[in-house]
Amino acid sequence: MSTNDLDEMANLLGDCGLTWQMLNATAELEVGFHVKTSAQYFGFATEAAIACREYARSHALASRLVSIIHRDNRPSQRVAQKTGMSLDRSLTHSSPVHDVYSMDL
Ligand SMILES: CC(C)(COP(=O)(O)OP(=O)(O)OC[C@H]1O[C@@H](n2cnc3c(N)ncnc32)[C@H](O)[C@@H]1OP(=O)(O)O)[C@@H](O)C(=O)NCCC(=O)NCCS
Repeated sequence: MSTNDLDEMANLLGDCGLTWQMLNATAELEVGFHVKTSAQYFGFATEAAIACREYARSHALASRLVSIIHRDNRPSQRVAQKTGMSLDRSLTHSSPVHDVYSMDL
């Protein structure tokens, strides 16, 4: 890793992407997001999550998109809602303090 790599990482606003997660013994496509504190409240997570949703949809990656979110994490719940997801009590995560939000793609 070079100094340039470290400079570039320091300028990253955050990350957002798609991963496969096991829920109810089935692989589900999850969108995850993190934004550094100084860059929050500008809509970056929502914009990035919507871009991931559109990528998943246009590439027919899955029939459903999910997001696994701590029950007290209001900002993430709002990102999920604004991406088109809603709380899905039919899907459970191994962590009892995490809820699952989902939407059909
Ligand atoms: C959740 C997170 C990614 C949101 O990023 P963001 O770019 O600030 O999100 P947006 O600007 O798109 O805003 C989404 C909603 O969260 C709210 N929000 C953003 N940061 C917030 C904060 N620090 N405290 C309270 N609400 C916050 C916004 O007001 C918005 O809600 P609204 O539409 O009702 O006004 C960011 O707060 C974060 O990285 N948190 C820590 C890591 C984390 O929890 N990751 C998700 C794991 S599931």
